[in-house]
Amino acid sequence: MWSNLPLFPVRASSMAGHVDALYFALVAMAAFFTFLISALILFFAIRYRKERNPQATQIHGSTALELLWTGIPLGIVMIIFVWSAVIFFMQTRPPKGAMEVYLVGKQWMWKFQHTEGQREINELHVPAGRDVRMIMTSQDVIHSFYVPAFRIKADVLPGRYTSTWFHATVPGRYHLFCAEYCGTQHSGMLGEVVVMEAADYDRWAASGVDGSLASAGEKSFQQYGCSMCHRTDAAGRGPNLVGVFGHPVLLDDGRTVTADESYIRESILNPGTKIASGFKNIMPTFQGQLSEEEVIGLVAYIKALGNGTAGAPIPVSEPNTAVYPVAPKSEGSAAKSDNTATPPAKTEPAQPAARQ
Ligand code: CUA
Repeated sequence: MWSNLPLFPVRASSMAGHVDALYFALVAMAAFFTFLISALILFFAIRYRKERNPQATQIHGSTALELLWTGIPLGIVMIIFVWSAVIFFMQTRPPKGAMEVYLVGKQWMWKFQHTEGQREINELHVPAGRDVRMIMTSQDVIHSFYVPAFRIKADVLPGRYTSTWFHATVPGRYHLFCAEYCGTQHSGMLGEVVVMEAADYDRWAASGVDGSLASAGEKSFQQYGCSMCHRTDAAGRGPNLVGVFGHPVLLDDGRTVTADESYIRESILNPGTKIASGFKNIMPTFQGQLSEEEVIGLVAYIKALGNGTAGAPIPVSEPNTAVYPVAPKSEGSAAKSDNTATPPAKTEPAQPAARQ
C-alpha cells in the first residue's frame, strides 16, 4: 500500500548519508524531549495534585538549576550548529576538478548543457562515482533544482549563476523537481537524473555531438566580434582573455575580483560594472542579444582559454603575455580561497607553478 509513498528517497549520492544522519538526529532529539516533557507534565500533575499538596511550595531562584537548563540546551544547539555547518560547507564547496554541467531553467523545463557538447531537456545524464558541479541560471523566474535522492536543493536564479554539486553513487533514474513556485506549470516542471556507470557515460557523452560547448562558444566569440578587441597581443582594445579564468583580476577602481563564471557573465552582459585595470569602458552590452545558452558557451570558451584546453582566439602572436592585468600579489592565497572557479589544475602555460 505504501510502496508509492516512500518516507525516504533512496540514498544515491555521497551527501545523502550525511544529510540523513543529521535529519534523524534532529528527529530523535525532538522525539526525546517530546516524550520527556510529556512524561514530566504527567508525573508532576499527579505527584503535586491539590489533594496531596493543598499548600503550594514557593521556590525563589536556584543558580544551579538556571545554569543547568541554560547550559544543556546551549550545548545541544551548538552541536546541531556545528554539525549542520560542516554539511553546509561540504554542500557549497564543490571539490576541485569536478566535471561541470550547465543548467538553464525556464518556465517550465530544465535545459542541460554538457561541456562535451551534449544538450538535454528534462533529463540529465551523469556518471556514477564522479563529482559533478552544476552551474545554473534561469532565463525567467526563480526555480529550484531539487534531487531528493542526492539530498541537494539549490535555487536557480535569473541574472546570475548559482552552483551546487553532487557525487552520485548508485546508477539509476532519479526524480528531479522544481522546488520553487514558478507559475502555473510549476508542478509539471519535472525531470530525471540518469546516473550511469562512468564508462557508459563517457560513451554517451561522446556520441553524436558536433563539437564541445567551448567550441560553440568560440563560434559565438567570432560571430559577435569579441575576437576583434579581445586579442592575444597587446594591441587589443579589450583584455587578452587567455589564462584569465580562475585568476584574480585587478579592476580600475583598485578592487580585485576572481574571474569566475559569474564575472565572465557579468562582463558580457554589463561590461561597465567591473572594468579591468588599464582598459576603457568601451565594450557594448550584450544584454538581450545573447541567449543564456550562448552566454554559457562563451563562458565555457573563456574558461577553456583559461586552462589551455582551447585554442587561443586569433591573432596569436604572443599567447599569455602579461597583457591582461592580473593582480600582482597574493595569487596563491587568492587561488586557494577561490572555491567557485575550479579549472583543472594542469596545463596552464606560462602560469607560475605556485598557483597549483
Ligand atoms: Cu520552476 Cu517551479
